[in-house]
Amino acid sequence: MKKFGILTSGGDCQALNATMRGVAKGLENLFGNVDIYGFMDGYKGLVYGNYKKMKPMDFSGILSKGGTILGTSRVPFKELDTPFEDGTEKVPNMIKTYKKLDLDCLIVLGGNGSQKTANRLYEEGLNVVGLPKTIDNDIWGTDMTFGFYSAVDVATHAIDCIYTTAESHSRVFVVETMGHKVGWITLYAGVSGGADVILLPEIPYDIKKVRKTIDKRMKQGKKFTIIVAAEGAIPKEVAKLPKKERKAVLAERKYPSVAYEIAEKIAEDFTGDVRVAIPGHTQRGGAPGAYDRIISSRFGAKAAELIKDEDFGKLVVYKNGQIDAIPLAETAGKLKYVDPECQLIQEAKTLGISFGD
Ligand code: F6P
Repeated sequence: MKKFGILTSGGDCQALNATMRGVAKGLENLFGNVDIYGFMDGYKGLVYGNYKKMKPMDFSGILSKGGTILGTSRVPFKELDTPFEDGTEKVPNMIKTYKKLDLDCLIVLGGNGSQKTANRLYEEGLNVVGLPKTIDNDIWGTDMTFGFYSAVDVATHAIDCIYTTAESHSRVFVVETMGHKVGWITLYAGVSGGADVILLPEIPYDIKKVRKTIDKRMKQGKKFTIIVAAEGAIPKEVAKLPKKERKAVLAERKYPSVAYEIAEKIAEDFTGDVRVAIPGHTQRGGAPGAYDRIISSRFGAKAAELIKDEDFGKLVVYKNGQIDAIPLAETAGKLKYVDPECQLIQEAKTLGISFGD
């Protein structure tokens, strides 16, 4: 009987269970009876041999369940060759567990760093297949990651809720959405929630331009303004600093989050109310939306097909409307940023949305 290992790694998202269900159903249908070992808390479970032998029932009824039934953790790629605090080595123990269980393949549901580790394990001789998880949608080589659209749904709902109270009180609101390095959630939720200003890490902002949008709206009789800012939104003057200085400035920030910084700058010469709203980790929580349930099921089916074909060392991707696979080595170490010249941004600008640039 074929034996497979599966783990979920890095920050969680809504469609991890849906994707595991897709993989498990695919494997059961293509191979008949299989043994699936679920490693607990991501790569840590593989290192310490902490696993659960899964039954087909374990993968039933989880399509709409958020989080991950296996638990997850962050084991940073750059610390892969540094032992855990208790002295346990990581890579040699991962290989040991894989070999001890005599696995035919390890299936990794994870984001950028987790797929880099998956690639390392493939290079070390293990059979590995990756599936692209993250609410950030920043994995290079795939147009879509699972988790992204559910996070956009949550962020959009948060903006909708802020919209009505902002309008009632004639307030400026800064809504902060997740994304330290990339602005995909912010861009999509901003457009979907009808934001007036969208601030992305990829487009450094000028606070004077943000103020101009507020003034313009006031002149039009629109007494409220919705600004949607990514966690990694950055002012122009900071963005242009050399990397070392920029890091130092960001490390010295007065507030733990950019929304307060932006609100404070606006309030300097604005007499109206300015408020902040941060949906935070709610963006990763709750049930997956319909889009994610579909793409997760498709990703799961493709992973099972790759395994059946013994086509290892691959990451399942969605490219140009098709489910496909690319070598893990191709995606490892790269991020998919928002292109400031992309169609959606140009269209948003045509609609009058400011990007603070
Ligand atoms: O990578 C997913 C993500 O939710 C990012 O958008 C966010 O910046 C980060 O994780 C938050 O990390 P943590 O859950 O460790 O606070």
